[in-house]
Amino acid sequence: MEYRKGNGLPFFNHIMCGIIGYTGAEAAAPKLLTGLRTLEYRGYDSAGIALSDEPILTVKAKGRIDLLETKVKEQGSLPQTCGIGHTRWATHGAPSDVNSHPHRTAHLCLVHNGIIENYAELGEELKHDGYSFASETDTEIAACLIDRFYRESGEPVSAIAAACKRLRGSYAFGILFEDRKNVLYAVRKDSPLIAVHTGQEGVIASDIPAVLAYSHTYYRLEEGVIAELSRETIRFWSPDGREVTQQSETVDWNVEQAQKGGFPYFMIKEIHEEPTVLRKTVEARLSAEGLPFFGVKRIDEIARGDFDSIQIVGCGSAMHIGLVGRTLIEDLARIPVSVEIASEFRYRDPIVGKRDIVILISQSGETADTVAALRHAKEKGAFTLAIVNVIGSTVAREADGVIYTWAGPEIAVATTKAYSVQGAILYLLAIKLAIANHRISEKEAKTLCFSLLREIPDAVQRILNGKEKIAETARLIQNAEHVFFIGRKADWDICVEGSLKLKEISYIHSEAYATGELKHGTISLVTDGTPVIALMTQEDVCEKTVSGIREVKARGAFVVSVCRESLAKKYEIPCDACLTVPDTEELFSPLVAITALQLLAYYVSEGKGIDVDKPRNLAKSVTVE
Ligand code: AGP
Repeated sequence: MEYRKGNGLPFFNHIMCGIIGYTGAEAAAPKLLTGLRTLEYRGYDSAGIALSDEPILTVKAKGRIDLLETKVKEQGSLPQTCGIGHTRWATHGAPSDVNSHPHRTAHLCLVHNGIIENYAELGEELKHDGYSFASETDTEIAACLIDRFYRESGEPVSAIAAACKRLRGSYAFGILFEDRKNVLYAVRKDSPLIAVHTGQEGVIASDIPAVLAYSHTYYRLEEGVIAELSRETIRFWSPDGREVTQQSETVDWNVEQAQKGGFPYFMIKEIHEEPTVLRKTVEARLSAEGLPFFGVKRIDEIARGDFDSIQIVGCGSAMHIGLVGRTLIEDLARIPVSVEIASEFRYRDPIVGKRDIVILISQSGETADTVAALRHAKEKGAFTLAIVNVIGSTVAREADGVIYTWAGPEIAVATTKAYSVQGAILYLLAIKLAIANHRISEKEAKTLCFSLLREIPDAVQRILNGKEKIAETARLIQNAEHVFFIGRKADWDICVEGSLKLKEISYIHSEAYATGELKHGTISLVTDGTPVIALMTQEDVCEKTVSGIREVKARGAFVVSVCRESLAKKYEIPCDACLTVPDTEELFSPLVAITALQLLAYYVSEGKGIDVDKPRNLAKSVTVE
């Protein structure tokens, strides 16, 4: 079977999937389904279980766990007392039964969370050893690799250890062997996996919520350590086959707290995921040479300038990140870009045709206005490129080309990590267009890509590490009636998003203004104590923003500057509070500074006792016009 070599990514990557395994005295199927339900918050598009028997019984279903439960019930009585289960959040390639987990071979059955990067070369090797594959997934290849070593050794732990030595990438595996009835095996690298044993029952899971029904004390598997769980015992083996011990941990969370990873709200948890998802999203779209690579054929044609215009279309935050994309593409590639509000796009009879590129941005991929804009652009013959987080969503399916962001499921209504990774994709696109337009050399592009991959996530992490200062600042403005955001150039782009974040979750009226616009009307609204958030990451307009600050200070404003560290040292900023942003490649500063604004909005909302994840009148995806 030829592997579709798209953008070098393994197909049907499995990040943010849910794994559960059970062995004990009771029927396993209901335990597995219950465990999978506690992991539903992670998002998924298909689910399946396997029960330890001779032969192993597997039941899989595309869609919700209810569908899986129906299929399980159709099997009749299922007395098996050991099994594994999986919910799959596919990040690449359409959800389907054949690609959902568990995957099985002659000797074993396996569920996987992660990405096997060298799946293609292993697949070729295994084909030569007589293996064939029912799916196109990296997971099935991992299962066959373990199977091949098991055929040689007849021993599960050594077979798993030998296979792990060959695997590159990330994985958490739950494994059943045909001839090791009622015994669970587990191993992980980079993807999380925990294990619990009560003396009568053993459980493995991707995350804490799924094990709390059994115990609040669990083992967080160390990288490469293989766990073997029977009804009576749990044992751990090092990769070189020595039996080892594992340190246990205890939490006092309930299931809901565990689903939020101990954070009070999903929003703050998702903001904390930004460094990781930024790294994952960028890493997956860099070629071996360290240059942007999307695996969308037409992007190369676009990059050669074979088009008249680029129009970025979206709603809310998705449109706002389009503003950042416009600044980047125009700055780097010197290509004119327009940003359109999706709900306006088709009604204003836009100038769009065969030689135009329309980029549709949407986290959910189901926003009605964005879907309608996509269809209008396609009717006019434009090439439509989607930047989407949810696999297989309408925008993803109907666009001519799609670049998936890898933010993982975003639960909070107010988008944060998805906005940030959309920005990372637009940065990469801008770099690719700039190379093709001979605006930057490949060497310069590699430096920018490296900075995006390393500097930005590290800088975002530093913002998170300094969140207490942001929380203190939030308390200073949380009782305001109006809050204004000001900035110039890319700083204005993120002011627009910062203002939306604040108003949608704290219900404080807020507006964003290009600093130069203040004197054209807005400043009449600035009175004693009015908070003004001044963004300063772009050095060439710093002095202008300082004078804007002086103007609002003269009218009594309470000014919070959000300023790059080096600029805060260089300029005397007459502000009442200063939040600094780590210095990075100036072009990327907006992607760092936005995290500070997301945190500011979060702490204002939390301080006001609002349900941050579910602000009034708002839905996560606006699927009606
Ligand atoms: C952002 O915090 C809001 N929840 C909202 O503006 C959102 O960005 C907009 O509805 C677009 O949603 P989409 O990205 O799923 O298309």
